[in-house]
Amino acid sequence: MQLLEGEKEQILASVDEVLKNSSKLREDLIPTLQKVQAKLGYLPALAMEKIAEGLNVPAADVYGLVTFYNQFRLNPPGKHQVKVCLGTACYMVGGDITLESFERRMEIREGETSLDRLYSLERVACVGCCTMAPVVVVDEEVEGKVTPTRVDGIMLALQDEEKKSVTEQEPNQGRGEDS
Ligand code: FES
Repeated sequence: MQLLEGEKEQILASVDEVLKNSSKLREDLIPTLQKVQAKLGYLPALAMEKIAEGLNVPAADVYGLVTFYNQFRLNPPGKHQVKVCLGTACYMVGGDITLESFERRMEIREGETSLDRLYSLERVACVGCCTMAPVVVVDEEVEGKVTPTRVDGIMLALQDEEKKSVTEQEPNQGRGEDS
């Protein structure tokens, strides 16, 4: 995923800071990755490269570890995070169809983030609301009985929210200097 303006510097600074307080042994690899992810919200390729250099381990080993453990994220969290439950109760009533509907609407696959970083989509295990299956968590709000039609409604609401926040950010556009 393409880095945003200033993100490269932020990644390098975060990795440097974590490595500064590390004993730089191979055993530090997982805690180092966890700390850098806590700072950045994910583990970009540049961070993995720098960590590999800093701990003197092959970059392929770092990448292998990050992809093995699902605690690590390879993509930045979207501004809006959608988590689709694929626990047994949700799966049995079409959780997979709900997930596919989001994938189509967001034009990304599960585990990815849209290029504009507005949306990220994940699958999760049971979130404890099985009676509301199929369940989706949208920015920490639990939504129940999420059919493909409801997916359209959720996406429209998120798009509306986005339009509103853009308008709010530009309240003075078009106004002159004098009051
Ligand atoms: S299986 Fe989805 S909430 Fe329990």
